[in-house]
Amino acid sequence: MIEQNIVFIGAGNMARALISGMRQLGVPGSQIQVHAPSTQRREALAEEFGLRSRPAKAEKLPQNSLVIYAAKPKQVDGILSEWRESFADAQVLFVSVAAGISSQQMRSILGENVAVFRAMPNTPAQVGAGATTLFAQATVKAAQCDIVQQIFSGVGKVFWLHDESLMDAATALAGSGPAYVLLFLEALEDAAVLEGLDRVTARALALQTVWGTAQMAAASPASPSELRHQVTSPGGTTAAGLAVWEEQLRPLAQRALAAAAARSRALGQSLKTKA
Ligand SMILES: NC(=O)c1ccc[n+]([C@@H]2O[C@H](COP(=O)([O-])OP(=O)(O)OC[C@H]3O[C@@H](n4cnc5c(N)ncnc54)[C@H](OP(=O)(O)O)[C@@H]3O)[C@@H](O)[C@H]2O)c1
Repeated sequence: MIEQNIVFIGAGNMARALISGMRQLGVPGSQIQVHAPSTQRREALAEEFGLRSRPAKAEKLPQNSLVIYAAKPKQVDGILSEWRESFADAQVLFVSVAAGISSQQMRSILGENVAVFRAMPNTPAQVGAGATTLFAQATVKAAQCDIVQQIFSGVGKVFWLHDESLMDAATALAGSGPAYVLLFLEALEDAAVLEGLDRVTARALALQTVWGTAQMAAASPASPSELRHQVTSPGGTTAAGLAVWEEQLRPLAQRALAAAAARSRALGQSLKTKA
């Protein structure tokens, strides 16, 4: 059972995904509060999930708080500087989901005594199917790691990283990944329509194929490569399609992840308060 009071700074897409997952996990709305500037957006979230909605300005934190920073990376310095005093209570745990901003950058704003975690979740968290990478500074206690693990494992799978510099790669893969998969779905649907299927059928077939394949791969001890070879007969339709994918897909995936990881690093470097 999650006992912490969860305080979100930011009420956007990522906060929504995590809150939706947490509520499905059984965390009571009375244990969650969201802070954001626009009344309309946070009130809508509060009404939908039965939470407390608070203005953006910093305030005293409830007892036994876990604060999740879910506003934009470029706002970290300005927003957290305002919240600094609220972190004087050493019991507060802090988790940032901001891409690219290092745990030491956040600790240097909030104070050296704060237990700082970095998380890179993704939006499937809203249906309990998220993939979150977590990093904890060496100073945090095992019991504090357990609490953060419990929260994020409630909304999907959790993977701990012991080298924080790998967060950029994890961000490029899993944080940004749902958008890549959605683009892939769109491309498959459009191509199938060009082949003559109606759009509704093309969309449903593309979705079920990606969903079913992911489930099959997750259930099998074989690697994706082995599974692919099992279903590829020489001279068959799959081989004909794969020959085209193979021409472009791997270099494209490398370029896409390199671009996203570089953007993540640049977000950290652009922050004024450097580690
Ligand atoms: N979206 C993803 O797939 C994803 C995945 C992993 C990590 N992340 C990370 O999650 C964070 C949020 O991304 P997002 O996609 O959720 O962005 P978003 O939808 O634009 O949400 C940003 C939120 O921050 C709020 N905000 C702005 N100024 C604030 C302030 N002074 N105090 C408190 N809240 C403030 C905004 O409130 P208003 O609406 O009232 O302006 C909004 O609710 C980013 O750091 C991003 O790197 C996102």
